[in-house]
Amino acid sequence: HMFGSVLHRNRKAFFFLFIVSFINKTSKMASIKEKLIEHVLKEEPSPALNKITIVGVGAVGMACAISVLMKDLSDELALVDVIEDKLKGEMMDLQHGSLFLRTPKIVSGKDYSVTANSRLVVVTAGARQQEGESRLNLVQRNVNIFKFIIPNIVKYSPNCVLLVVSNPVDILTYVAWKLSGFPKHRVIGSGCNLDSARFRYLMGEKLNLHPASCHGWIIGEHGDSSVPVWSGVNVAGVPLKSLNPDMGTDGDKENWKGVHKQVVDREYKESVIQMVWYALWEKVLGVFCIPCFILRNLYIFNFLNLSKGMHGVNDDVFLSVPCVLGNVGISDIVKMTLKAEEEEQLRKSAATLWGIQKELQF
Ligand SMILES: NC(=O)c1ccc[n+]([C@@H]2O[C@H](COP(=O)([O-])OP(=O)(O)OC[C@H]3O[C@@H](n4cnc5c(N)ncnc54)[C@H](O)[C@@H]3O)[C@@H](O)[C@H]2O)c1
Repeated sequence: HMFGSVLHRNRKAFFFLFIVSFINKTSKMASIKEKLIEHVLKEEPSPALNKITIVGVGAVGMACAISVLMKDLSDELALVDVIEDKLKGEMMDLQHGSLFLRTPKIVSGKDYSVTANSRLVVVTAGARQQEGESRLNLVQRNVNIFKFIIPNIVKYSPNCVLLVVSNPVDILTYVAWKLSGFPKHRVIGSGCNLDSARFRYLMGEKLNLHPASCHGWIIGEHGDSSVPVWSGVNVAGVPLKSLNPDMGTDGDKENWKGVHKQVVDREYKESVIQMVWYALWEKVLGVFCIPCFILRNLYIFNFLNLSKGMHGVNDDVFLSVPCVLGNVGISDIVKMTLKAEEEEQLRKSAATLWGIQKELQF
């Protein structure tokens, strides 16, 4: 009876004690993760060693992402865009495929802190050309976009290699170099790699050979004023110009000039674009094997790099020439033995670019 009355008087206190002991018990109960895995490392884990960031998750940016993931190039992939819904959706879509990938971390954000410590940053963000818009106007709109993007990349990854893909890629690579303050070997543009690939495919068509056996380089501007190096076009070391001295001239009966015309021809490109809405796979295959070479190898690639002082070019322009890539960016440039008329065309390419660049406002 006495115990009963004590209990009654202290009911609230007992109830309180019961709750506290229940909370204690449950909080001590280990989770499955704790039961399964013992954390043995005292220090914080080191950051990703091969992190790649892609800025702009449009068609080109996502093609780049897929190629980075399929080739197991990085231990962390970061995506950045200004359209948050799209960005999150693209990130989740990739994350849900993680079972089939070997990249353990895929992150995204509008804030550039997600990009911190990247080794390579690929910029594919940009405004699309509007109908009737001049090239200069489009460039200036993209300069304004780059004014935001580039300083943020530099802030979080001051030692990265910057690879510019956004068009007009020659001019925007110059803009990225200016805005970043990076040394020239760490700012690269995707350049004429694709133009050369298309040229070699078309050359192969003409000769009934696989493109890998057809050698030819398109250099200079990634666009209308690009330069086909006819003097170097060869198969198995045999210069084709030695077999047909008219090759590449208007007097050539075989019309090899037409091959280069097809490479730069808007109509040809547009016909591909019209048929498939976007000539993307070529880019996936061509442009986006680049990160693999930057991070791993010493292959020669046809990239845009600061070409002042080469082939009589005297302005700060980025032209596409064969360069050697290493993990710190461009380490070497191949000194092509160009003919006088080819150098002249390259200088024209440079003058076209400089004409636009000098009008830009930073
Ligand atoms: N160099 C080459 O060989 C090559 C080949 C194909 C395309 N391109 C160029 O690549 C660029 C992208 O092409 P696309 O088809 O993917 O375009 P897109 O319009 O599909 O995608 C562009 C993306 O950039 C984003 N963006 C815009 N402003 C941004 C900012 N301030 N910060 C972050 N993201 C921003 C947009 O939201 C969009 O998602 C274009 O400039 C295109 O001309 C270059």
